[in-house]
Amino acid sequence: MPEAVKTWQVLELINVTEALFADNEIENPRLNAELLLADTLDIRRFDLYLSFDRPVGENELSAYRNRVKRRLAREPLQYITGKTEFFGLPIEVNPAVLIPRPETELLAEKTLAIAQGLKFSSPRILEIGTGSGCISIAIAHSIECQIDASDISKDALETAKKNSAANSTSEKINFILKDILSEPANFDDYDIVVSNPPYIPIDEYNLLEAELKNYEPRSALTDESDGLTFYRKILDIWSLSTSCSALLLEIGDNKSKSVETLLKERKIGNYAFHNDLLRIPRVLILERKR
Ligand SMILES: C[S@@+](CC[C@H](N)C(=O)[O-])C[C@H]1O[C@@H](n2cnc3c(N)ncnc32)[C@H](O)[C@@H]1O
Repeated sequence: MPEAVKTWQVLELINVTEALFADNEIENPRLNAELLLADTLDIRRFDLYLSFDRPVGENELSAYRNRVKRRLAREPLQYITGKTEFFGLPIEVNPAVLIPRPETELLAEKTLAIAQGLKFSSPRILEIGTGSGCISIAIAHSIECQIDASDISKDALETAKKNSAANSTSEKINFILKDILSEPANFDDYDIVVSNPPYIPIDEYNLLEAELKNYEPRSALTDESDGLTFYRKILDIWSLSTSCSALLLEIGDNKSKSVETLLKERKIGNYAFHNDLLRIPRVLILERKR
């Protein structure tokens, strides 16, 4: 007689996957198991709790197994499900774009506050290194504005455009293929410039965990140097500008002192560092004295 094939139920699958992830040192093993299964079954995570004894069909099981294997190989959860959230908005992600980080929401929040404090109604904003488009989309979703969102990666810009359309911000954001390190730039065309640039020094990049190093775009993470290349370049352009009102930069861990030295070398005043929830200086704001 052929052996009966086991039918798995939701709760059993979650428990088994949680144990497997824990044995393999995946952080937050239960949460990872639940999010992967909910996405595979196309239900909300919360709804798993209402369906613990729901049988999981053969096709669903095979899709889920495949995704568990990918997670065990350290592929980030967001690349497996193809999505994340930023500022409460849905953002599609893939290996061409950095997965938006929660701490970057502070940069978007501060940019919005500055934009709302300007006296005119539709500020012109430049974003350097837009990636998935998350920062520009968060801003354009909240206020009247005109944004040029630039990146060196054509594939990232394709994803950003899709995200912008999905969040109904296409009319406010113009996506531009541009290398900020080698092409001329003038901040005086804008009221505000914002950037979360690649800031991981190459020696730290080489020590990163597999989730980041093997999956996220290298050019989004490191400047292949001391982690300060983009800060130098952007501050040089800011120093030459005369009318742009504000520059906002995300600051890497332990980078605030070195960035402050760059400011002093260029005799740039009127700046402030703002801490994130972990009390790490995360956002640098430069405002033009009027
Ligand atoms: C840290 S990621 C930020 C992505 C997104 N803004 C976010 O906050 O999640 C840096 C971005 O800068 C882009 N980039 C790298 N080198 C660049 C360059 N020379 N000029 C313009 N953009 C660049 C990368 O492609 C990447 O999308």
